[in-house]
Amino acid sequence: MSVSVKSSAEVAPTPATAGTQSKVLAQRTLAARPSEVRKVFRAAQRPNVISFANGAPYLGALPFDRIAVDAQRILLESGERSFQYGASNGIPELRAHIAELMKLEGITASPEQVLVTAGSQQALDVAARVLVNPGDVIFAEAPSYAGGMAVFTSYEAEIVHVPMDADGIIPDELERLIGEVRAAGKTAKGLYTIPNFQNPGGVNLSAQRRLQVGEICRSNDLLIFEDNPYGLRIRW
Ligand SMILES: Cc1ncc(COP(=O)(O)O)c(C=O)c1O
Repeated sequence: MSVSVKSSAEVAPTPATAGTQSKVLAQRTLAARPSEVRKVFRAAQRPNVISFANGAPYLGALPFDRIAVDAQRILLESGERSFQYGASNGIPELRAHIAELMKLEGITASPEQVLVTAGSQQALDVAARVLVNPGDVIFAEAPSYAGGMAVFTSYEAEIVHVPMDADGIIPDELERLIGEVRAAGKTAKGLYTIPNFQNPGGVNLSAQRRLQVGEICRSNDLLIFEDNPYGLRIRW
């Protein structure tokens, strides 16, 4: 059987095609919604729009001259190896380098514990695939990053948003909501949090609250999915 995939803009759904799709597509795909991240990026490309919605890197801070020199050196020294398949969890040198870099954030990890992914989005996807069951509740800051929400909902988790103030997520609210979720007979599985320069709130979780939130998660057996693209400050 061949399946041709077209965007919904190209093919208006009719009762007939909707029926075909529901036979062909997986249940979780039928429940999928259009990407919020794609919408945000499309809006950001409009002239005269300065978008604060997506975390675009500041390219002016990147040392392009050094990247060019390093790229040339890598291609000349190990070109064949860099274009060939390598270990699926990432080349050992890169994993060792990442483990070293993580020390700057107080994380002690061996290279064997590092999994290289194509960005944070894939890392979240792997984590959710391995850890989240349909119906599990994932707590997240209110509001939270659309790409993170998309991952958890695609694995059929229920998102429960926890209010923030100027110091980040409010610990008492987190505890209250965990109680409500448990009382409703649901599984409180984890907290997805962006503790540094939260997207889209721009808020930093205060030092005291980091301890409180960590303790609440520990005592309630909640996994912490920490998404930290903006925390590390490197001077080149
Ligand atoms: C909190 C957060 N996580 C993840 C991402 C995306 O990361 P990546 O491009 O590495 O998948 C973004 C980008 O805006 C983000 O703001």
